[in-house]
Amino acid sequence: MEYNTDMNRDLKQAFRERFHSEPTIPVRAPGRVNLIGEYTDYNEGFVLPMAINHEVRIALRPRADRRVAVVSLDLNERSEFDLDSLERGTGWSEYLKGVAHELQVTGYRLRGWEGVLTGDVPRGAGLSSSAALEMATARAFAEVSGFAWDAMQMAQIGQRAESAWVGVHCGIMDQAVSAAAKAGYAFFLDCRSLEYKHIPLPKKVSVVTLDTSTRRGLVDSAYNERREQCERAARFFGVKALRDVSVEEFEEKGKLRIENREFLDELAWKRARHVITENARVLQAVESMHNDDPVTLGKLFNESHASLCDDFEVTNDALNQIVEVAQRQPACYGARMTGAGFGGCAVALVRRESADEFAQAVGTEYRARSGMEAKVYVCQASEGASVIKE
Ligand code: GLA
Repeated sequence: MEYNTDMNRDLKQAFRERFHSEPTIPVRAPGRVNLIGEYTDYNEGFVLPMAINHEVRIALRPRADRRVAVVSLDLNERSEFDLDSLERGTGWSEYLKGVAHELQVTGYRLRGWEGVLTGDVPRGAGLSSSAALEMATARAFAEVSGFAWDAMQMAQIGQRAESAWVGVHCGIMDQAVSAAAKAGYAFFLDCRSLEYKHIPLPKKVSVVTLDTSTRRGLVDSAYNERREQCERAARFFGVKALRDVSVEEFEEKGKLRIENREFLDELAWKRARHVITENARVLQAVESMHNDDPVTLGKLFNESHASLCDDFEVTNDALNQIVEVAQRQPACYGARMTGAGFGGCAVALVRRESADEFAQAVGTEYRARSGMEAKVYVCQASEGASVIKE
């Protein structure tokens, strides 16, 4: 696996300047792009993300005491906390503290460390910069404190940190793929059993991430509200989670619902339709990858976007525009919004030999339509959290 050695050299140099010594451990954890399976994770369903070559890196050195001191090079800010008296505050270091807290609650004995931190996962773009930060932090603690890397346990700790410490009731997808992905593969996860499989990507395609340059606040409340609607729908169906309802059962119940006037509000009904059909699409997507069939996979991307736009209502104008522009390109098999939505990124599946041309054309047409600049990244499937080998 190739790493950007310039970035490593800079990181080491920055550590020397800040802490006047050599860092002994460099770690990294990737962001992700979700290929398909949106808003299915907290409904105990299926997801198919891929770790990307945008990541968070920390160069660090153990300390003799129980303090953690970290400098964010990108924000030029320093944060320091004591493992024996963690207190809530605001800002990026809450992710580190949340992970430290959850690790300790789970029974891990932690040691202190000092480090410098940098990253190139765009923030607030739906590419999981926070999960990358959580998993890089967990990896740092594992190395310093000498415990083995149990990827799925670390993912659960990251998820709990985000929900209990930071307050976003997210699912397990982002942390799981950042902790456990394999370079060159997509990552299929059953969010109920937490079993996962590495799935080969179609051979001659590129995965292209399209950043609309829009960000929206208030995502957390809209996110938590969708989650409640899904739980209401699950209660209506009498199941633990929407994962337990098949497309056929949904359609059957749909007829009865109208005949018997059984009550489930239209909004929750639409949310459920998205989740139930999306779960089915993920399973079909896995099959199409095994068949090296980008045409079917692309079609599933398009259907997923329509469902997220009409039924789950988490797109915005910019996302709809960029997806439409992408879908119109001859080299594109399919495109959809990715991540939590309301702004941020879309993902497109593109014929590899035409990926650069595609990127150019989408940039130009999106600018003409929206007046905004898109950032386009051709992504590589990268490895989950690891110690950087130099
Ligand atoms: C965010 C959350 C994930 C998942 C997606 C939507 O990325 O962190 O757990 O719910 O939104 O699929």
